[in-house]
Amino acid sequence: MKNLLNILDLSEKEIEELIATAEDIDANPDKYRDACKHKILATLFFEPSTRTRLSFETAMLSLGGGVVSVAGANTSSAAKGESVADTVEVVSGYVDIIAMRHPKEGAPYVAVRHSSVPVINAGDGGHYHPTQTLADMLTIYREKGGFENLKIGFCGDLKYGRTVHSLISAMSRYKGVEFVLISPEELKLPSFVKRDYIEEKGISYIESESLEDNIGSLDVLYMTRIQKERFGSEEEYERLKDSYILTEEKMRLAGKETIVLHPLPRVNEISVKVDDDPRACYFRQTVNGKLMRMALILKMLEKNKSSEKNDGAFQENTFVSDKYDCTNPHCICECEQELSRLFYKDKTGKVFCAYCEHEASEK
Ligand code: NCD
Repeated sequence: MKNLLNILDLSEKEIEELIATAEDIDANPDKYRDACKHKILATLFFEPSTRTRLSFETAMLSLGGGVVSVAGANTSSAAKGESVADTVEVVSGYVDIIAMRHPKEGAPYVAVRHSSVPVINAGDGGHYHPTQTLADMLTIYREKGGFENLKIGFCGDLKYGRTVHSLISAMSRYKGVEFVLISPEELKLPSFVKRDYIEEKGISYIESESLEDNIGSLDVLYMTRIQKERFGSEEEYERLKDSYILTEEKMRLAGKETIVLHPLPRVNEISVKVDDDPRACYFRQTVNGKLMRMALILKMLEKNKSSEKNDGAFQENTFVSDKYDCTNPHCICECEQELSRLFYKDKTGKVFCAYCEHEASEK
């Protein structure tokens, strides 16, 4: 693994190693104080962020490294129309590692093709957010002691919630895991996640619109924000925004050992009255995010010492074609016109966009 675009770029063993390193960093921070001395991280954030950007930056600073940052699309040449490809081509000449967040799905796949240094996906549109998954997994590990035989409920915006997509794909590799997918009809899990990470693997799951009916059976409840910025219309957002609110009363229906996670920011999904409940883990989760990002930066810079080539990150059977169109308006290929159109076929012969994984249509 040279780059981290999808959580599945890391094997289960590599995730275990990152967890062990994160625990050691937590116990012995002094040991790591100069571990990344003279190395520089660039955080290129073309979308708002508090936790992810600041935890990446404080992670690098705590490892003795330096940080340069683009915070917001308006503060860089992206505002003048510069492409992701050109931005990364330039920035990778200045730094040793890049963490990038972008509103378009698949943008980090473009970055990788133009970068001479490792690239970490810090969230690409409604697609993936692998380092949030690392934070989530350290939290589950610390609170539950492991990943097997857990019943995990995801509640809220499962359609646009990229943290949900990444955590489902990661957890689907463990024995005895079951999913409860709680959302309004309009915000159900997209087919690329359901097909590849749940149905293909024969994982047991149910879909439901009710939090109350399911909360009592869960080991982990993963609450999410309704992703306002990804909605086509304000009206639809207004209708769905308060679909689920976790209150003290609902927590009374949950098991004694049910833990509550949320990637944050919360808007109205969890009442502040739940914060003091020992089962509420979302603030501990943010600390775990910094520890895992420290472990990840260390590992990626260490690996990069070997002259491992930039492996391109795409599926093996990816091909260039002008016979197909990506049907996803949020895909990076919609705004970077010069990109080669890349696709792959699944076992049934259906064609998908290699950047965002949405089904393609024939021209
Ligand atoms: C999440 C994100 O950006 O996807 N936040 C985060 O990184 N901690 C969740 C969200 O914005 O709702």
